Amino acid sequence: MATMESLIVTVNRIQRACTVLGDHGGDTNLPTLWEALPSVVVVGGQSSGKSSVLESIVGRDFLPRGSGIVTRRPLVLQLHKTERGLQEYGEFLHLPKKKFTDFSMVRKEIQDETDRMTGKSKQISPVPIHLSIYSPNVVNLTLIDLPGLTKVAVEGQPESIVQDIESMVRSYVEKPNCIILAITPANQDIATSDAIKLSREVDPTGERTFGVLTKLDLMDKGTNAIDVLEGRAYPLQHPWVGIVNRSQADIKKNVDMIASRWKEREFFASSPDYGHLASKMGSEYLAKVLSKHLESVIRARLPGITSLINKSIEELEAELSHLGRSVAVDAGAQLYTILELCRAFDRIFKEHLDGGRPGGDR
Ligand code: GDP
Ligand code: NA
Ligand code: MG
Repeated sequence: MATMESLIVTVNRIQRACTVLGDHGGDTNLPTLWEALPSVVVVGGQSSGKSSVLESIVGRDFLPRGSGIVTRRPLVLQLHKTERGLQEYGEFLHLPKKKFTDFSMVRKEIQDETDRMTGKSKQISPVPIHLSIYSPNVVNLTLIDLPGLTKVAVEGQPESIVQDIESMVRSYVEKPNCIILAITPANQDIATSDAIKLSREVDPTGERTFGVLTKLDLMDKGTNAIDVLEGRAYPLQHPWVGIVNRSQADIKKNVDMIASRWKEREFFASSPDYGHLASKMGSEYLAKVLSKHLESVIRARLPGITSLINKSIEELEAELSHLGRSVAVDAGAQLYTILELCRAFDRIFKEHLDGGRPGGDR
């Protein structure tokens, strides 16, 4: 198990190092390497609860959320698990030397950085914001928050916005490394869910789609979503997970994450409709399912990732030996870091093989 975990940690670090390097990858395979590593993307209509679900998975309050179009740029969020007892902090790629320990300041910086690119209007931009969170309480994961799919432009938005958002979302979810969280609010007609429609298109077999049903607390009295949650109404390969996030009133009252998780657990445990499903519902369960899935994806892809990494090692060695004065010193150092990480991956992987059972653990 320890080995599998160290492979995932290394994969996460390589992904981050490639991100930091940006466009300075030279002639190497690095963009392909980034794409070979799995990430989790939230997809759904506006205000379906995407940002709220991501916050719950992380277990911290730090994302702008609310009614209307709040998320207006992609947010690439990398979670890095650190040792127990260390302080949690966030760090933005565009502010590399600043450690954010106050997560309300993380939220403010996301808002400010969004406005910097789009103005205070309701415009969107496909240029992602990169944020890393270092914490003992997270699993190693890359999560991506996206603007919500919408059917009409609102005042101040160009008519093209509907199509622009869909193309942006599609560019993420069509990549085979992308694990899709299809966020669908239970208080709307599920048959018309944008999330389900788009994920069926890009992932027809459903092997990388997780259906997430939000707003179960807002369903009309006398109705329930048992048919969906038990997999009859809209069967997916992975079971649906029901969620109760904070309401807008909770947000106004500053209900914190611990209280909201408690409320969510209580909702399922005490529900006459969902009580029998309680152990397989809620944000904490979703986080567990995702990290388990991620582990199995990495395990299945190990041969491919490993050969790509070996190729990258060769290319990086060549690139570094040719490095003239033309390349920025920082980029050179970063390439070197990636090279070291790739070598580490290769070493851990070989130990894994020497352990006897490739792909097995313990
Ligand atoms: P996004 O636009 O898809 O990112 O959605 P947000 O996470 O910003 O949430 C939109 C609004 O719906 C906010 O006011 C949330 O408080 C509210 N909301 C999200 N999920 C739930 C839920 O499960 N129950 C309730 N009552 N409100 C929710
Ligand atoms: Na919203
Ligand atoms: Mg959002």
